[in-house]
Amino acid sequence: MSCPIDSKVIRPIRFIAGQCQMLDQRLLPAEEVWHTYKTYQEVAEAIRSMVVRGAPAIGVAAAIGAWFGARDIEAESSWDFFQQFKEICDVLAATRPTAVNLVWALDRMKHFTESNLERSVLELKIGLEYEALAITEEDEKINRTMGKHGEVLIPDGARVLTHCNAGALATAGYGTALGVIRAAVEAGKKVSVIADETRPFLQGARLTAWELQKDNIPVTLICDNMAGYLMSKGAIDCVIVGADRVAANGDVANKIGTYTVAVLAKEHNLPFYVAAPVSTIDLSLSDGSQIPIEERDARELTHIKDIQLAPEGVDVFNPAFDITPQRLVTAIITEKGVVQGDYLTGLSENIRQR
Ligand code: MRU
Repeated sequence: MSCPIDSKVIRPIRFIAGQCQMLDQRLLPAEEVWHTYKTYQEVAEAIRSMVVRGAPAIGVAAAIGAWFGARDIEAESSWDFFQQFKEICDVLAATRPTAVNLVWALDRMKHFTESNLERSVLELKIGLEYEALAITEEDEKINRTMGKHGEVLIPDGARVLTHCNAGALATAGYGTALGVIRAAVEAGKKVSVIADETRPFLQGARLTAWELQKDNIPVTLICDNMAGYLMSKGAIDCVIVGADRVAANGDVANKIGTYTVAVLAKEHNLPFYVAAPVSTIDLSLSDGSQIPIEERDARELTHIKDIQLAPEGVDVFNPAFDITPQRLVTAIITEKGVVQGDYLTGLSENIRQR
């Protein structure tokens, strides 16, 4: 794959001789460990266990997993190949339920196969490799375009609050929400970031702080429950987050706690922006109530690594995402432009241009 060699650019997924390596995001920032994957089962487990996470990144990983699965299929005919390929895609699709990019990428891989059934099994395998690499390369380009559209919304000198990690680590590179911030910095603006720590998985503390520090973008870490205080003190100028799925009406699923931040932003008259590629928009769902919300292991709340924080046997509820209603969203930034106001029309037009 043709990735420009630039050691400063963070890309959490890389290719070496027909295998892929992923940076283990569970271990950052303490350790930078890369694991190597060559089967679809290994990639599925990496997505499930959050070695790789963030909506666009898991879409990319799923496409790579599907390619790995495809190349190991033994089939007499293209039709037989396609039946086996769909089963592989089903395994990958079941790894995480909320981020629609996962299903979007697998649908694209299946669509390629189904629309080329007149080709040989070998040609289909080569085509699927090409498709997976194209999905990876396109993702970073899309983020850079989204950054250019979004940075005009960020004033010079802005102090920008973000939640979770919607950065290079959550994508093939550059990031969605952090991509907009990177683009603002590249445009010569002085921007500083306030990063919510993002309990319980701590994507803000561990990942956002790590990647912004690497880029020399000023970042201040706060606990999730400090955002309202900072807003009340006039210490935040706007909020920008990523998304895992955007419904047709503009309701946004993102990391748990995003809704709270959006309510606080409304109370303090601060713009609340969402940066998400078109692959995150799900027009099949009319509103956010239909978006499946992943529930994760209680241990994420009761423990930090092996240290127990909560009493043995306590009941725990651990939804990984929440829904921010579109009335709280000032604008949705995609690679096609900035959508405001009538999300139903604006988002459908974005999809039509895909
Ligand atoms: O559980 P995660 O870490 O996969 O959740 C990630 C998020 O919620 C991100 O904010 C979202 O995927 C946007 S990433 C560009």
